[in-house]
Amino acid sequence: MQDAILAEGLVKTFGDVRALDGVDLNVPTGTVLGLLGPNGAGKTTTVRVLTTLLTPDSGRAFVAGHDVLKHPNRVRQSIGLSGQFAAVDEYLTGRENLQMVGELYQMSGRAAKSRAVELLEWFNLAEAADRPTKTYSGGMRRRLDLAAALVVRPPVMFMDEPTTGLDPRNRLALWDVIQKLVEDGTTLLLTTQYLEEADHLAHDIIVVDHGKVIARGTADQLKAQTGGERVEVVVQDRDLIPTAVEVLRGFSREDVAVDKHTRRLTIPVQGGAKLLAEVIRELDARGIEIDDIGLRRPTLDDVFISLTGHHAEAAMGSDDEDGPGSGEDGPGPDAGEAQTAAAGKDVR
Ligand SMILES: Nc1ncnc2c1ncn2[C@@H]1O[C@H](COP(=O)(O)OP(=O)(O)OP(=O)(O)O)[C@@H](O)[C@H]1O
Ligand SMILES: [Mg+2]
Repeated sequence: MQDAILAEGLVKTFGDVRALDGVDLNVPTGTVLGLLGPNGAGKTTTVRVLTTLLTPDSGRAFVAGHDVLKHPNRVRQSIGLSGQFAAVDEYLTGRENLQMVGELYQMSGRAAKSRAVELLEWFNLAEAADRPTKTYSGGMRRRLDLAAALVVRPPVMFMDEPTTGLDPRNRLALWDVIQKLVEDGTTLLLTTQYLEEADHLAHDIIVVDHGKVIARGTADQLKAQTGGERVEVVVQDRDLIPTAVEVLRGFSREDVAVDKHTRRLTIPVQGGAKLLAEVIRELDARGIEIDDIGLRRPTLDDVFISLTGHHAEAAMGSDDEDGPGSGEDGPGPDAGEAQTAAAGKDVR
């Protein structure tokens, strides 16, 4: 299979910050690559280089067979881009924005109109179609921006955090749209902070941190690398934590993580729902009442801890090289956002 996107050794520095520190990646035609990483990892910078908006200090990249540095115009004609920050004309309505994009790309007025109607429908914007976009909510702008990127059905698409800021219903709707595009043969590179999203949409995932690719694989491979599933139990009575730990030890060779404050015990396991049922029976047999129990899959944070030794939020907002242990300083100012983002993963 040919690569629709290929990058080799991309380096980009901004003053002291090495935003890209030798990024290699490839996306076979007709597949989806999920670029995953915490704030400041280099995701947007990668997208900007590949979409000709930024010149790298070194390295090479090809998109749809064209050299990004030598033939940026050819690249631009083959791609659609939906950026991290919505770029829509505030004074035009949603419909006008989409029609304008179609006309910019030399579609006939009629074709642009009917494509706009179709996209407004796909993105749940039909009702608001004839309002100026300055009256749109953040999520509506985001969706309009995504729709704008799809007006001309480009063979290669870049979406930078397409679902950040969307509510669960619209996130699912967007996932459907993306799946439709891919069925029709579009190649897609999307960045995201949500492992679930990459899991659902991407054939392959690349994890970046500090401008470097630190892991690559399918969602399942990354999760396996992170330790796979785990059982989480919240026991009712703090005094019974030691007994519960004993019970859990019987189900895994790994250590039980204990958070006394929340009375939450966590242990990596293999065996899925069947094993969960056994854990419940055993806890019951020992007279341990539980407030909550569940089988949890790894989160982005788990992948991060396993790959980098620090929490995703510890890497947030720290553009300089972190010393080891900087993760212990506690959450930075953005941590609340990170936690919200993590909570968003359970949306499905
Ligand atoms: N124009 C710029 N000038 C200076 N520094 C920049 C510029 N663009 C990016 N950087 C820096 O490069 C690094 C990578 O930024 P980038 O925007 O690629 O991260 P990201 O992975 O997209 O993060 P986020 O999840 O926050 O969108 C950051 O340290 C950022 O501060
Ligand atoms: Mg970004």
